[in-house]
Amino acid sequence: MPANTYQQGRIKQVFSDKNAQTSYLISQLTLAEKIGQMSQFNNDAENLHNAIKQGNVGSVINEVDPDTINELQRIATQESRLGIPLLIGRDVIHGFNTIFPIPLGQAASWSPDVIELCAKIAAVESSNSGLNWTFAPMIDVSRDPRWGRIAESLGEDPFLCSTLAIAMLKGFQGDKLSDPHSIAACAKHFAGYGASESGRDYNTTNIPENELRNVHFPPFKAVAEAGISTFMTSFSDLNGVPATGNKWLLNDILRTEWQYPGFVVSDWASITQLITHGFAKDENAAAYEACNAGVDMEMATDNYAQHLPSLINSEKISIEHIDAMVSRILRLKIDIGLFDNPYAANSTSSKQLNSFHLAVAKQAAIKSCVLLKNDKHTLPLSKTAIDSLAIIGPLADDGYEQLGTWAFDGNAEHSITCLEAIKAYVKDSIKVKFAIGMETSRSNHQDGFDEAVNTASDADVAVMILGEEAILSGEAHCRSNINLPGCQEALIDAIYQTGTPIVLVIMAGRPITLATILPKVDAVLFAWHPGTMAGPAITELLFGEDCPSGKLPLTFPRTVGQIPLYYGQKNTGRPASESTFIDINSINVRAPQTSLGMTSTHLDTHYSPLFPFGYGLSYSQFEYKNINVDKYSINMGESLKIAATLRNIGKVDAEEVVQLYIRDLVASVTRPVKELKGFQRVYLKAGQSKSIVFDLHTDELAFYNRQMTLTTETGIFHAWIGGSSDTELKTEFEVILPSE
Ligand code: NOJ
Repeated sequence: MPANTYQQGRIKQVFSDKNAQTSYLISQLTLAEKIGQMSQFNNDAENLHNAIKQGNVGSVINEVDPDTINELQRIATQESRLGIPLLIGRDVIHGFNTIFPIPLGQAASWSPDVIELCAKIAAVESSNSGLNWTFAPMIDVSRDPRWGRIAESLGEDPFLCSTLAIAMLKGFQGDKLSDPHSIAACAKHFAGYGASESGRDYNTTNIPENELRNVHFPPFKAVAEAGISTFMTSFSDLNGVPATGNKWLLNDILRTEWQYPGFVVSDWASITQLITHGFAKDENAAAYEACNAGVDMEMATDNYAQHLPSLINSEKISIEHIDAMVSRILRLKIDIGLFDNPYAANSTSSKQLNSFHLAVAKQAAIKSCVLLKNDKHTLPLSKTAIDSLAIIGPLADDGYEQLGTWAFDGNAEHSITCLEAIKAYVKDSIKVKFAIGMETSRSNHQDGFDEAVNTASDADVAVMILGEEAILSGEAHCRSNINLPGCQEALIDAIYQTGTPIVLVIMAGRPITLATILPKVDAVLFAWHPGTMAGPAITELLFGEDCPSGKLPLTFPRTVGQIPLYYGQKNTGRPASESTFIDINSINVRAPQTSLGMTSTHLDTHYSPLFPFGYGLSYSQFEYKNINVDKYSINMGESLKIAATLRNIGKVDAEEVVQLYIRDLVASVTRPVKELKGFQRVYLKAGQSKSIVFDLHTDELAFYNRQMTLTTETGIFHAWIGGSSDTELKTEFEVILPSE
């Protein structure tokens, strides 16, 4: 067994294992020092150095300067009584210095490999600066595009979210947490935050237990099982009990049922906010509720420091409970290797944004872009067939906005914008003229329209680069309308009037309602916020150096009134179909009222989305045929193979994300009309075909039933394979008990 060493002053201790080291430290810590380990301070806290020296600090958040971090670690390890190093935490959400696409964009790549590599690079860059803990991945299943934090999420689907979250976790934590370039990850926000009512951040959530278990918990359970180091509580109130004081959530589910060994951190001041929620009467009660529920570390506020001593003295909280919490925190510090070396991995690394990191950022952005429309093969643009190009829009040449939300440590000066990249790519072969059109994406002034119209009129093609500025999504940045903001729709109208074909590139942190402008543009490339390398990535796609292959990780509604709209809906007792679409204007005045023939739809729009989950075009076309199962009946506990033939019938070599969906036709609780159960990214040369096979075990058909037990029920299932959730290529199979 490897010996663990621990140097305290001049005394060097050797332990047989990590448990022994943890127990030893627990035996040495005073109560105040234990509570210190449970406290996270912001980097600008008053008297931080002294507090560290006194052993009152377990973790520091938001410091990124390597020299400062090294000094904090020096004080912790050399000047505090027990020399316990610090966890240094930061929101490294989609890159550190090299900024990758926002997580929602990365999710559109449907590529665990891309996501793992982005997280790995973020871990390398941030650990070089001395960080050892990130507050990512954010794995709240998100079905409300009004919610600003949807930008940070991995989309609407529990399966996609779980698969990609595990990839991100692997990237951050590496093969070994003690590797100097691994950083601890944090699953957040536990739980239900994505369901904030009306998509307004921090808002209440009411989620039945069955829905929690079948939809919101799976990504958290998946990363808990995959070894994520920490969990963060949600700000929100879950069924009347705020998550930060929710013992059922943190103790009964996470700790007891899932046997999660890592530690739980509160969100920023969320312990104090238990008072604001109306759940705790004062700070003492807030500290009690959070600690009793199972929050091991407090972020930013000091309720634990102020009130745990009296709560322990009065035996409301037992010292055994505290010891267990502190042990979990110490254990991470040991696992991550901080007792061996707490310092920045390479504080002199001058080239954080090296060519490899930038190449990965470009590839990630390429794979994240989703081609939503491409009439008459408008894209790719041909260098030879076009003489002049108009580049229009406030996001065409803005290195800051393309980074998106949570890009604290990215630098706009390192960004390459679309305008820069397009000019560099076409050199003198195409005349490129730029008109900003609007000052910002939100602006309502049309002063720039004339210049934009003139620029477009003179050009063969207008590439409009529109969308949302970074600040329009992210924490507390929610919108009640999710259309193109400001006067962008009017700008599109104005350019449309010129008759010049329009290629619309959208950078945004959420789905945008595009129904009204779609008929006016010839092609739409949805790029999310692509990060540092937005320009080169988009340029290569526009000119066909690479082929779009991203697929939507969530549903795009036609109108905000359809929200929540997601593919995995329940069938209802009166499901709609396109034939039951009702045009509100076609209803006769004083029409007779009847209760017959009514279905679950809105009068004034279709029941279906504008673009379904999983959708995304390519410059090539793919044909799906011959879906089949290797056996019709499978015994419970066994697997079957579901296969289809995929053929690239277009003229371009391209990648396709092949998706497998199932439906459990009859179950003891109603099940979604479709559920994603597998996906594969497949590269096919033009004309090439391939049999795509998915293995499906009956365990993968399990769901939580009325007794909240995870179970697979016998019966008939439908299965579909295709390039989007609206695929109609269907087969079926039956799950039986072995004796049947
Ligand atoms: C609040 C956010 O909700 C959380 O996601 C983040 O990690 C913390 N602040 C720390 O910045």
